[in-house]
Amino acid sequence: MPIKTTPADFVAWFRSVAPYVNSFRGKTFVIAFGGEMVADGKFLELTHDFNLLAALGIRLVLVHGARPQIEQHLARKNIEDSYHLGIRRTDTETMQCVKEAVGRVRVEIEALLSMGLANSPMANADIRVAGGNFITAKPIGVINGVDLQHTGSVRKVDVAALNDRMEFGEVVLLSPLGYSPTGEVFNLTLEDVATATAIALDADKLVFLMDTDGVQDNKGQLIRELTVSQARTVLSAQDTRPDDVSLFLPCAIRACEAGVARAHLVSRHTDGAILQELFSDEGIGTMVVESTLNTLRDASIEDVGGILQLLRPLEEQGILVRRSRELLEREVERFVVLEHDHRIVGCAALYPFLDEASAELACLAVDAQCRDKGYGEAILNHMAELAKQQGLKKLFVLTTRTAHWFLERGFVESDVTALPAQKKSLYNYQRKSKVFVRKI
Ligand code: ARG
Repeated sequence: MPIKTTPADFVAWFRSVAPYVNSFRGKTFVIAFGGEMVADGKFLELTHDFNLLAALGIRLVLVHGARPQIEQHLARKNIEDSYHLGIRRTDTETMQCVKEAVGRVRVEIEALLSMGLANSPMANADIRVAGGNFITAKPIGVINGVDLQHTGSVRKVDVAALNDRMEFGEVVLLSPLGYSPTGEVFNLTLEDVATATAIALDADKLVFLMDTDGVQDNKGQLIRELTVSQARTVLSAQDTRPDDVSLFLPCAIRACEAGVARAHLVSRHTDGAILQELFSDEGIGTMVVESTLNTLRDASIEDVGGILQLLRPLEEQGILVRRSRELLEREVERFVVLEHDHRIVGCAALYPFLDEASAELACLAVDAQCRDKGYGEAILNHMAELAKQQGLKKLFVLTTRTAHWFLERGFVESDVTALPAQKKSLYNYQRKSKVFVRKI
C-alpha cells in the first residue's frame, strides 16, 4: 500500500472493487501481450497481476508474442527479415528461428509464472500453466504472387481442450504457433491467436497490451469507450495512427462483433494497467463494446440508493433542494435514470400540472465524472418527449445556479407568475430560484 494512502482510502477502494470481484468470478478473459513485455524485463509485474486475476477465479488464457526475440535470432544468424504487405514471410530457415525464439520466450514466461517467493505478490501463488496443441493453423498461402510459406492463420481452436484445462484451474498460455493436421508448424500473429481464441471461447474479455495508452482522437485525447460502429468510424477517419492501434483495434471490432462482450486496449508501459482497467468504472485504456452501455429508463424503488448518491453532492452544494429518502421512495416513479454500464449516472423527475398543461422538470443531475458527454441533454430531451406524450405544452425548471445551461437549450427566463397555481403557493421566496420555461 503506498505510504500516502490512508486506511479510509484503502477500505473505500477495496470495497469499490467488490462488484467486479463478484462479476468476474468464473468469467473467461483472453489477455494478449507482445514479446516486448519479456524482452524489456517488465513481465514480473505482469505476472503479479495475472496471479491476482487467477486467484479471483477468472479463467485466464494468456497469449504471448515473440517479435523482438525472433528478430534477434534472425539477426544473429544473418537472415534477412522479409515482409510482404506487412506480413512476415516465413521460409524454412526463418521458421527455425521462430520456433527457437518462441520456445525461449515461453520458457521464461512459465518460469516467472511459477514463482512463489515469500513477501512478494506471488507468495502462496499456485499458478499451473497449461500449454498444448490447441490451435490448428492453415497457411496464408500465395498473396500477389508471393508465397508466405510457413506464415499461417488460425483455422480452428480446440475449445473443449482449453475448457478442460481451465476447469482444472490451470492458466492457459498460448504461443503464436499453430499446427496443421499434416504435422506442419505455422508462424501466427499473436493478435490472430488471441482474437480467434476469444471468439471460439465466447470470452467475456479480450485484452491487448500495447505501446500507446489506447485509441486516441484527432486531438490526441484518449478515447475511453467505443462502440463497434464508433470504432469503425475512427479507423476510417484517421489516416495515420500508431501501429498497435492499427493491429489491435480491428481485432477488438472483430471480437466484439462475434460475441466477445468487451475488448480492452491498454498500455503495457503502465504498471498495473490491467488492474486499473478491470477494477475501476472508468478504466485506464480504451474499451470496445458491441453497442452502447447507456440506458435511459423509468426509475424503480431499487434505484433510490443510486439516485440519492447522485443528488447528495448537488444538494450539499445548494444546487438542488434537499430531498429525503422517504420522499424519493414515494416519488420515485416520477424519475427516470440514465445508466452507464449498470451504474446510475444521471436522473431527472417530471411533475405534471395537468390543469395548466405544463410540467416541472426537477432534479436533473449528472454524475460529475460523466460531464460533457451529452447525458444532461439526452435526459432533458427524453423528459420533454414524456411531457409531450401527456399532451402538455410547457416545461419549466426552477434553478438558482444552472440558468445558462437551460438558456442554451431553448428555455427562456420567466417569473413566479408563470408557475402553475399550486407550485406558486409553494414557491420558496428565500431560495429565490429563477424560473425558466420552454415550449414543447
Ligand atoms: N472495469 C470495467 C470493465 O472491465 C469498465 C472498464 C471501462 N474501461 C474503459 N476504458 N472505459 O469492464
